Amino acid sequence: MLRNIDTHKMNILMEQNEEARQIINQLLENHQTIVSSISHEIRNPLALISSSLQLVETRHPNVKNFYGWKQAMEDIDFMRQLLDELSLFNNGSTVRPGVFSIEQLLKNIAISFAISVNEQDASIEFSSKIPTDLGDFTGDRLKLEQVVLNLLRNAKDAIGESGSISLSAARHADALHITVKDTGCGIPEDRLESIFEPFRTYKPEGTGLGLALSRQIITAHNGTISVESKEGEGSTFSIVLPI
Ligand SMILES: Nc1ncnc2c1ncn2[C@@H]1O[C@H](COP(=O)(O)OP(=O)(O)O)[C@@H](O)[C@H]1O
Ligand SMILES: [Mg+2]
Repeated sequence: MLRNIDTHKMNILMEQNEEARQIINQLLENHQTIVSSISHEIRNPLALISSSLQLVETRHPNVKNFYGWKQAMEDIDFMRQLLDELSLFNNGSTVRPGVFSIEQLLKNIAISFAISVNEQDASIEFSSKIPTDLGDFTGDRLKLEQVVLNLLRNAKDAIGESGSISLSAARHADALHITVKDTGCGIPEDRLESIFEPFRTYKPEGTGLGLALSRQIITAHNGTISVESKEGEGSTFSIVLPI
């Protein structure tokens, strides 16, 4: 995976030399196609394995008590999630822009997130502050939805037993600000930048792709995503999108 610094060097090379730009673009496209084909090729047999095992489970319910069965099913689920996130990450820079209401998008996300929080855990308090003057935005609706959902899910993971999460937005002269704040475990200072790197996870079941994908999507919209956090107190993720 290319680190931020390598991408920067690559961009300079591409600006300076037309031939380099063409070659690098071809390599990037090639890389994207390879990742897509590999995940596609793995996803199909994995789906077959998963349905065969589910069939075994239906016909022989006893198998659930067999040592290792539950773990194997969870591992398969994890691999599916990893492949899904890998393909999202692989296509993260491709923006399909449209015009949509940010207020509506954020309100829909807030409603479904509030439901998921209520269903699972009554001790997490979720609030949202979404003003009515956010206006229309030109960007990739689905991808921006993924970003906000990723941040909310991370906030939920960080909270564990009890705490609060808030989603807020504001429109200033030339930018849209979206903030997700939580009172969770917080992030140690030395991890604050590395958490945006692909596959960087500190969760036993994490993929480490959520924030990498989020940054990729926000950068593709010429925006920025940053974090402020204090261990033991909580974190605030801020997105700024130029209008
Ligand atoms: N709101 C948060 N509070 C505390 N830590 C966080 C938060 N969001 C992200 N992190 C840290 O950043 C890491 C990377 O996050 P992410 O890229 O979404 O991958 P994953 O959630 O699969 O671990 C997480 O493993 C976690 O350690
Ligand atoms: Mg995550």
